[in-house]
Amino acid sequence: MSAFGLCFNLGPSIKMTPRLARVCATCLSHKVNRTDLRIASFTWIKRFGTGPDGGDDDSGAPVPSSPALFPFSKGASRFGRRPLSPLERVSQMLPQESLSEEVWELRGKKPREENDDTETQTPKKLIEDLDVHEQSGDGVVNESKEDLTHVLPGERLMCFGEVLLAEYRRKRRLELQKMFQLEKGSKLGSNSGFIAHDAIQGCHAGTVLRTSLGIPMLIRRPSLEEFTLFMKRGPAIAYPKDASAMLMMMDVNEGDCVLESGSGSGAMSLFLSRAVGSSGSVLSVEVRADHHRRAVLNYERWRSSWRLRSGNEWPENVHFHLGDLTNAAPSLAGRSFNSVALDMINPHLALPTVVPHLHTGGVCAIYQANVTQIIDLMEGLRCSTLPLVCERVVEVQYRDWLLAPSLQKDGSFNRRKKPPGEETAESENDDAEEGHESPAHFPFGSVPYIARPHPEQNGHTAFLVKLRKISK
Ligand SMILES: C[S@@+](CC[C@H](N)C(=O)[O-])C[C@H]1O[C@@H](n2cnc3c(N)ncnc32)[C@H](O)[C@@H]1O
Repeated sequence: MSAFGLCFNLGPSIKMTPRLARVCATCLSHKVNRTDLRIASFTWIKRFGTGPDGGDDDSGAPVPSSPALFPFSKGASRFGRRPLSPLERVSQMLPQESLSEEVWELRGKKPREENDDTETQTPKKLIEDLDVHEQSGDGVVNESKEDLTHVLPGERLMCFGEVLLAEYRRKRRLELQKMFQLEKGSKLGSNSGFIAHDAIQGCHAGTVLRTSLGIPMLIRRPSLEEFTLFMKRGPAIAYPKDASAMLMMMDVNEGDCVLESGSGSGAMSLFLSRAVGSSGSVLSVEVRADHHRRAVLNYERWRSSWRLRSGNEWPENVHFHLGDLTNAAPSLAGRSFNSVALDMINPHLALPTVVPHLHTGGVCAIYQANVTQIIDLMEGLRCSTLPLVCERVVEVQYRDWLLAPSLQKDGSFNRRKKPPGEETAESENDDAEEGHESPAHFPFGSVPYIARPHPEQNGHTAFLVKLRKISK
């Protein structure tokens, strides 16, 4: 989904604010990668929605330019005399009712009734909107279960047996993230107090509840990426960023038959399982019995939670085999694979067993933590007669950015300062210069942003090697 799609697929509860419009516009103009939007300061965006009833727009496509979606047309004369900025273009695509009071004031038009008791959005209020966990509710259960009539078609409420994720963010920092299974009579405990599991059951996934100490905690479902990061591990997993790059290298498609080794903790097996779908299959070979058991347990745990959260069966398409891949020729007899993923020690020793079963033109992707292992692999290949060519050696690096409005110590927004004398010059030229983009016309842009690489970055995980089988 594009960054634009992301911005337009958000939940119903946050109003359009200048900050949001800025982020949407930034996403548009810089084509920000969806996966780069994971930093704490961006989580609030996901609650914003612009669908017909404030809900999500499944298409993820930009909103069509129907007249109903151009609420500014009446007051457009003010803006018609100059080209619109990207920010304004985005804001014009949004439904009128989603725009904040502040935006309307900046546009010189107040759409609300005199007796409208909606609270004016002061800078402080806007900060509270941004920090969604802090601002929501005041009871233990913020969204009382009687209010849960608004369950969208296909949406399922959290139920006992599901694997869930609790998280607490404060001042743009992720303070706590914990994965747990919802069980009747249990408590979710942490240093921030506890929440009874019974209070979570029956709420929307993505509900903010308060702990016994009053700390707001977001309870939601983990993505597969999060599940693999938080699940119980035997050996280290193939990290999601690397696993997705491997899937791309291998060009895994629905219906494919893939060989994987070792199973380890089962993270790569789960990503492969999703990629090949119910018509495909994965053979996952593991030499250690404890790792084999761990991989099977994690796979089954995800499947049973999936059944509860979606009402559908996760495909049972991974066969976990206990054995040494280097001696697995008898088990592989008569089998062939579209691609192979190896995350094991000394993969070059397994290649003679594996390569005869890989389709010609297919890819074997190899995951190794140390570059010395890659050198051993390359030297092993050089000395062999295997019909493999090395196409790429890569390291996948994500760089998180801190992108958020700049705040003062008291929590209110900093404001841009105009150069001395500019304000007078603006008001004099205001009506005279047709088409001139004076700062007075900008409805947004008064708040400066922090925008720099995040000080806390993930370190090295692995090198990936792409080998292709060719016909010599
Ligand atoms: C780093 S772990 C793999 C992690 C896995 N990719 C995941 O995402 O959870 C490496 C695994 O390879 C297994 N292994 C090593 N040599 C093997 C061999 N010759 N045959 C099968 N498995 C092997 C190890 O026991 C270990 O569990």
